[in-house]
Amino acid sequence: MVLLLAATFACDGSPRDAEPRYISIGLDALETARGVAAARHGGQLEILDVTADAAVLAVDPGELDALSEQMHARHHRCGGFMLHESLDEARASLRPPVVPADRRIDYTLDQAAAVREVLPALDQARILATIGRLSAMKNRYYQSDTGAGASIWLRDLWRSFPSRPEVTVELFDHGYAQKSVILTIPGAARASEVVVIGGHLDSISLGGKAGRAPGADDDASGIATLTEVARALLAADFRPARTLQLIAYAAEEVGLRGSLSIVREYRKRGVDVVGVLQLDMTNYQGSDRDIWLIRDFTDAAQNDFLARLIDEYVGATWGFDACGYACSDHASWHRAGIPASMPFESRAGERNRMIHTAKDTLETSGDNAAHAIKFARLAAAYAIELAKTSPATTTVAAPAPTMAPAMPAMAPAAPVAARDASGRDSGALLPALGLVLALACYLTATRQP
Ligand code: BES
Ligand code: ZN
Repeated sequence: MVLLLAATFACDGSPRDAEPRYISIGLDALETARGVAAARHGGQLEILDVTADAAVLAVDPGELDALSEQMHARHHRCGGFMLHESLDEARASLRPPVVPADRRIDYTLDQAAAVREVLPALDQARILATIGRLSAMKNRYYQSDTGAGASIWLRDLWRSFPSRPEVTVELFDHGYAQKSVILTIPGAARASEVVVIGGHLDSISLGGKAGRAPGADDDASGIATLTEVARALLAADFRPARTLQLIAYAAEEVGLRGSLSIVREYRKRGVDVVGVLQLDMTNYQGSDRDIWLIRDFTDAAQNDFLARLIDEYVGATWGFDACGYACSDHASWHRAGIPASMPFESRAGERNRMIHTAKDTLETSGDNAAHAIKFARLAAAYAIELAKTSPATTTVAAPAPTMAPAMPAMAPAAPVAARDASGRDSGALLPALGLVLALACYLTATRQP
């Protein structure tokens, strides 16, 4: 959202004396923001709030594009700051809500039998094939026909898996061509508590709708990883105690728009999400260790849980790293106070340089899915250990596979605070954003050694 709006202002040439906009930005980038304010109108930086890591600034709308460019040039971030709808929202984003003690999640590892039943069924070749199919589409841009087609294709693939009547696969309509896809396995014992595993379905490159954007790594790899986890869990007749949702988000590349609107809708409906795992880029092995747990915009306790899951079930090496900004959909949940994590394929500084270009192909990732399979193991273990198996039903055989009926992909509403439940999307402001983002990210990708 941030960058997209910034870009739109740049294209529109907002008047100099427009109402201030409120952004949150990392303290490491404060000097950059100061430089932009000084260069533009000799102005002082208006710092309205500050924590140990980040600050809220009031900026002239006309500064946003210059700031975006400078963030890109100096910090190699495509966004790097968040543009908020109000000062209150900006302040709140600095301090995610404190989770009350009785809502803290018990991250026990006690499902070894169920995990060890599912893990051997995960199939690298299937992940590779799914990445191949997704990256063969011209692009999966959120406003393109092929981006829309990707949603239908994925929905139908997920619906083709052996299933049970209560399992649903539905589209979530955001008002643009591409839809998010949501697979729901309702919980048998604690159905109102939802565990979410997601990745983003869209891709982007220079050229927007018309450009070639295979997005094999970013993020066909995450969607293919998610897809294989879904298949293996359903094949094993996994019956979770909590509700499990797998979400392929639309429109991540244009400012996390898909996940932001789902989070807004879930808040409105009072859906109680207890944990979120984001799979964005899983198949390019760029560093000496396998899995990098992103520390920023994520939950420390859940990250420690993931580290234990890796040690216990995945047998991969891991480390901690940071994006430095709200780099993927986990940040949308984190901002709403929901524990989110993002295990990443490399150190952020050693990332796949081809993302957001026509060269983000399977070939660039080595033409195999040897790296992604580790993330599939982790995600399956996460699903089973966090959603838990339902004690009474683990050995019950599944009824004949049936197409899931259309039911709302939501848990029953509970009376929780629903801040910003407007469900409004900034669609009217956004047509130019995707292209500008693509350009910025393309430049980033090509500038690096
Ligand atoms: N997969 C990337 C995020 C990423 C890239 C994380 C490289 C770590 C290393 C994601 O799809 C993306 O491109 N995000 C945007 C920001 C978003 C708010 C539009 C980005 O990084 O510029
Ligand atoms: Zn991306």
